[in-house]
Amino acid sequence: MASPADNICFDLSNRVAIITGASKGIGESIARLLAAAGAKVVVSSRKQEAVDEVAGGIRAAGGQAAGVAAHVGDLAQVQTLVDRTLQLYGGADILVNNAATNPVFGPVTECDGNAFDKIMAVNVKAPFELAKLFYPVMKSRGGGSVINISSIGGVSPEPNLGIYSVSKAALISLTQVMAKEWGKDNIRVNAICPGLIQTKFSQALWQNEQILKQFLKATPLARMGQPDEIGALALFLASDFSSYCTGGVFMADGGLTV
Ligand SMILES: NC(=O)c1ccc[n+]([C@@H]2O[C@H](COP(=O)([O-])OP(=O)(O)OC[C@H]3O[C@@H](n4cnc5c(N)ncnc54)[C@H](OP(=O)(O)O)[C@@H]3O)[C@@H](O)[C@H]2O)c1
Repeated sequence: MASPADNICFDLSNRVAIITGASKGIGESIARLLAAAGAKVVVSSRKQEAVDEVAGGIRAAGGQAAGVAAHVGDLAQVQTLVDRTLQLYGGADILVNNAATNPVFGPVTECDGNAFDKIMAVNVKAPFELAKLFYPVMKSRGGGSVINISSIGGVSPEPNLGIYSVSKAALISLTQVMAKEWGKDNIRVNAICPGLIQTKFSQALWQNEQILKQFLKATPLARMGQPDEIGALALFLASDFSSYCTGGVFMADGGLTV
């Protein structure tokens, strides 16, 4: 087995990585960092133009990347993402389930069944389907790394983000189930739980002065996080430096949940 000491920096040469929700925010950071470490990266989100732009930026910086549009809540598009990855790069070693949705902000009584189904389809079922589709591919290559982007809400429910928190707790459980079942195949499955990270997804929180103040007061590092601070942890979990980590739930929240 390769030792981390063999590399003085993260080396993902000859690895193929798929990142969902990679047109902006945390997913874009993960795509850029994995590509900078040498991975061939499939940049995916719903909009072809948006993923082409990120993939083009990576190529301009000397990396290898292709943009493949897919709405992860649609099983046919999920299958297309897998097929296109295999056509483009002939395999898969790293899957980052990062895309998520939250169409409702408010108490559980205001979340109807349709919104519940949509949240579960994108945040839980899509990671389940994608990981299952890539499982035989990773197994045939001797192993792999699946990284699920959960949330601090998956550990302790966030106010007004009830069903989103339920979905992120389910994603942690899915991570642990797959880690237990796939360890024998050297496929590692880990979850990252970001705290408040400054992206479009969370702008309703950080643009609200009162909410931001409460967050900062409760956060030992007393600031929001930036996408690269999650991307760096994903890079570690994608690489051989994390070879003994599986089933892990990694907090990156400035200490908020301590
Ligand atoms: N920001 C935070 O404070 C925070 C905290 C905890 C956890 N997280 C988690 O971190 C992850 C990334 O969030 P972010 O803050 O980086 O969000 P973001 O900046 O809004 O980016 C979301 C990405 O997901 C894509 N996307 C949305 N719905 C999709 C769908 N159905 N299928 C495929 N792609 C889809 C978007 O692109 P298109 O519009 O082109 O599809 C975009 O690339 C999410 O899982 C989120 O739950 C974020």
